[in-house]
Formats: sequence, structure tokens, C-alpha cells
Amino acid sequence: MDAAELNALNPYLQGPHAPIDLEIEATELRVTGEIPRDFAGAYYRNGPNPLVPPTGLHHWFDGDGMIHAVHFEDGRATYRNRFIGTDDFKAEVRGETAKPGIFSPAAATGQTVYRDTANTDVVMHNGELMGLWYVSGQPVRMDANTLETLRVEDFGGALPKNVSAHSKVDLGTGEFHFFDYDLYDPFYSYGVVDAQNKLSHFTRIELPGPRLPHDMALTENHIVLMDLPVVFTEQGMKNRVWSIHHDEALPTRFGVLPRHGDGQDTRWFEFPGCYIYHVVNAWETKGSDGDWLHLYCCKMVPNGRDLPRQYGPYAPMVNVLALRAVLTRWSMNLTTGATKETQIDDTISEFPVINLGHTGRKSRYSYHVSIPDTDVQVYDGLIKYDLETGTHTRHDFGPGVFGSEPAFAPRLNAKSEDDGYLITFTTDTDGNSRALIIDAQDMAAAPLAEVHIPQRVPLGFHGTWANAKEFVAAA
Ligand SMILES: [Fe+2]
Repeated sequence: MDAAELNALNPYLQGPHAPIDLEIEATELRVTGEIPRDFAGAYYRNGPNPLVPPTGLHHWFDGDGMIHAVHFEDGRATYRNRFIGTDDFKAEVRGETAKPGIFSPAAATGQTVYRDTANTDVVMHNGELMGLWYVSGQPVRMDANTLETLRVEDFGGALPKNVSAHSKVDLGTGEFHFFDYDLYDPFYSYGVVDAQNKLSHFTRIELPGPRLPHDMALTENHIVLMDLPVVFTEQGMKNRVWSIHHDEALPTRFGVLPRHGDGQDTRWFEFPGCYIYHVVNAWETKGSDGDWLHLYCCKMVPNGRDLPRQYGPYAPMVNVLALRAVLTRWSMNLTTGATKETQIDDTISEFPVINLGHTGRKSRYSYHVSIPDTDVQVYDGLIKYDLETGTHTRHDFGPGVFGSEPAFAPRLNAKSEDDGYLITFTTDTDGNSRALIIDAQDMAAAPLAEVHIPQRVPLGFHGTWANAKEFVAAA
């Protein structure tokens, strides 16, 4: 099978997932409806976008990172998209042979050699954007206005190794709490970068072997780390290829450590084994029965689907990417060690986001994408959860329209947690893309505004919102 035939079988290179070629900036965008004037800032979304057609087996997670952004100011919108300039991406641009992706042998020397794309997550910290990669890689700083790559970030040379996606920014302290994981010892580390962009803390966390954690949580006083039963296979490790499996014998463990704590002080809480991609939020409460830490996540459940053989060598990848997850709370009593797991709802949803100002503090609302039961991962609407009642409201995109992880943008002088807007990109089967602005307190209503984007925005991974004052002040 030649490369063209192989690529034609990969559904994550087709239709709304297909990569695009151009980096553009577009102002004076056509708008259906009216952009509210009471918010200012930008919605950013990261995702994979192979610079050149893959020449071998290509995983959806392998594509070069590209940021798409819409800046809003005074009722006007500007769209930009740019590749993320990791060192590996720059080498590709120079015409050097691209490093392989996760279908390829992992390492020859004990160091991973996958192409580092920073394609997974995007956060705002210290007035600049930071692109992050799920396998732990080089964080890449980008100008929050132009999306231009500024540098590969090593925090003044102090970063010991890498940073994983879903490391967290605390808007209150300005700190960036991060984790790093690897196939080789040390398997897991935790660090903190302060509001002045200096590495202020770094510690090693003991794990029984290489794991595949995807997210972490912050609370007011603690961080929460994950030891999940998805592990690298012995055979894969021996042959140095990316090979993982769910070990049914292992539990799910959450490691609770004081912020800035020594890794040796991590307290582990055990629950029945499950895999978790994404954290909703976590916070602490005090009760007559002691201090509790509550962790809300989307818990993966089996998708029950047969192997979709029509995708040939991509059938296993397609099957794994058919996400099924349900909103779940894990409660841990820091005083007594008691634990409690509660499934909150059975609706399938993922890619949860909150009002970022509530990270690590009690929050009532979360916003997820709704995932239909299709072969290929797409999002057909948004779901707003009320975590207190367990109920939700929906916003459907309509037939043939697929969205992205949204971001919550608070209104200026917002009066409550959900006083603001949800923003997401949509792409339809004809290749038309829009940025939707939805009233977060009236989810089922039509969008307040649909900003017409002058090129297709491929479906992708994670997004964020940054208020203009976060990056204008830093400029
Ligand atoms: Fe993720």
C-alpha cells in the first residue's frame, strides 16, 4: 500500500479533519447576529495539521500543531491561524525528514524520538500563549495577538525535561503547575512556574512503571495526579514501540500532594480501575466528617463497538478514538482516607471546560462537547452541566455541523459564574467554518453571533479563552 492509499484510508485526514495549507489573518469578518460588546479577548484552539502528507502510518495525534484564534474587541472579530514552531516543526520546514509518530519505534537510546508537535493543549500564562503536547514535550511560547512562535520555553534554562498537556494555570496566583511523564525512569515529575516565569518547584513522583496520564487537577491547597491502569506493554517496551493496554488487574489511583510539596509526601487514594482523559475541576470542602477533596472528570466507559475493518490498518486507532465517557465525581477524605465514587450522569460527553477563574475552587457549571456514536470522533453539540443537580442543558449544532472544545468567556463585570459566553469553532460537511458565540445562561437558544471564518478550521483538540487584559498588559 503506497502513502496515498494509506492516507485515503485514514478518516482523520479526510473531510472536516483534513489539514489545511494556509496561515492567514482575516479582519472585518462577516457576522450573522451581533457580537456582544461586553467581552474582549481571544478564543484559541489547538489541533493537529500535518504540514506535508504523511508518508507512512499516521495517527490523528501526530499532526503538526496549529493554533486557530478569534480575537474579539468592541463587537469586531479577527481570525488567525499559525503552525506552532517546535524544533521538530522547524526542521520539517527546512526540508529535513520528519521524525516519526506514535505508530513508529519509540526510541533507540532511551530517549523518545517522536515528532514533538505541541498540538494538544494551549494555555495563557504570563501574558503569552503556550502550546503543550500530550506525550510531554517542549512547551512553545506564542504571541497572544499574532500567534507567532516566540521561543521554545525552558523557563530560563531551568526546566529539567518536558511538560505535558493539561498542566494547569492558576489565574489567582499566576502560577503554572505542570507535570511531565515518560516511558523511562523517572516516570513522573511535578513542577511549578511562578507568575514571573521562574521555575519555583520541581519534584519527582514515584510510580510503579510507565503510565499514560493525560490530565491533572489543582485545588486551593493541593494538586491531584493520576496513576491509571493504562500501561505500556512489556513487549512494546522491549521493542521500543508505542504499545499500551488496559491492565484490568490495576486500580485507578489519585495522588494528592500539597501544592509545592515534595513528591515523597504524595498520598494515594485507590478506586476501581478506569481510564480518564480530562478533568472537569476539583476542590476541597470541610465537613463534620473531615476534609474532603472532590475530583470531577469524564470517566471512560467501553464503546462496545466492533473493529471497523473498513479502515484497514487504521481500524484499531479508529476504535480507540470512538470516545465514550460519563461525568463522574471521586471524593477523597483527607482526614480519614475514606473514598467515594459517584457517576453523576450517563450522557456521553468529553472535553470539559469551566470558567477558568474557578480552577481549583468550587464551581457549579461545566461545559462539555456531546459525542455522537459514530465511527470517527466528532462533536455534535455542547452540554452545560449543573454539577450541583447533575442536570444538563444542550446546544445542538444541527445536522452535518461539528464543533470544537469550547471556552467560557466571562462578561465584563460578570455577576455570577456562568455570566458570559461559550465560544467554539464549527465546521460543516461542506467545509464552512464559523465561530459561535452562545449565551452560557441560555444554552438552547440560537447563537448570539456566528462569525464566518474565511477558511475551513479542521476539527482538533483543546481550546482556551484569555481576557484581553491578560495579554495586552503584558505586551
Ligand atoms: Fe486532552
